[in-house]
Amino acid sequence: MEGKKDIITITHVISGGSVDTLAKSIADKLNANFISTDTRVFSDGESKQKLEGKITNNSRVIIVQSLYMPVDTNLFRLLCLISKAKEYTSDITVVIPYVGYARQDAEFLSGEIITIKVLGILLKKAGAKKIIVVDIHSTKGLKMLGTQTTNVTAVPVLARYFDSMQLENPIVISPDKGGTKRAEHFAKELGCGLLILEKSRDRKTGVVRIKTKKADIVKGRDVIIIDDMISTGGSIVKASEFLKKQHSNKIFAACTHALLVEGAKTKIRKAGVSKIISANTIPNKTAIIVDVSDAIVQYLKK
Ligand code: R5P
Repeated sequence: MEGKKDIITITHVISGGSVDTLAKSIADKLNANFISTDTRVFSDGESKQKLEGKITNNSRVIIVQSLYMPVDTNLFRLLCLISKAKEYTSDITVVIPYVGYARQDAEFLSGEIITIKVLGILLKKAGAKKIIVVDIHSTKGLKMLGTQTTNVTAVPVLARYFDSMQLENPIVISPDKGGTKRAEHFAKELGCGLLILEKSRDRKTGVVRIKTKKADIVKGRDVIIIDDMISTGGSIVKASEFLKKQHSNKIFAACTHALLVEGAKTKIRKAGVSKIISANTIPNKTAIIVDVSDAIVQYLKK
């Protein structure tokens, strides 16, 4: 129309520094302006952040930050970046590929604090309008983060990794009942069967036990254990020891978030797992990494 100018909204993708490669890949795929962050840490542990680029007024800002270790530091840096972006725009989307504090989504023991709820409050108060997460621990937790929150899944991209492998009558394993939906999705993507292990964890001692009916169906078959995250490796180790007792063939561990703390890699290998495959929500040199940026960008384009 004559006299009416097209309004072009500039998109900036700011990386909080925890997953720079993923953030850059998101920016490139969106044709957005990438802004990295220069971060210094003072001797008392405080962070000083500086944007390495300019945010333009009323632009669209996407901030990418994963909340792995040091969790509190990465979280505070994210809150600071949101608050900085708010000086220029209210159109702020936060992409949190790995959401720390998501496992505490209930008061399991009296007096515990539901951290995922607190995280939702902090992000909203800081100025986040929309939140995108990847394979958050639970739907319950997702709801507590707020209404404008979307969960993206890395399951299809993890499944594609196995497409070219010559697997022996593969079967997908969920290490616990909580992972049933994820494992069903993964098994559907791979076009193979599924077994759900019955895992119980003592909330006080942390001791994990597994018992499952009809587990002998894994005999002689390649198994792929799928979980949302591998932290200390305890769940994967228990599952693979159990599967080995049932005479399974090769064991693979696939997850979205490979935290791999407390010597998890060594423990998992010792337990007989031949490969760990994870998405790039947390940088690491141990797992085989698959890229989840396409799935995230798909939602950011909506
Ligand atoms: C538990 O419910 C989660 O889905 C994971 O199985 C668990 O957090 C993994 O932790 P770890 O590797 O320490 O057993």
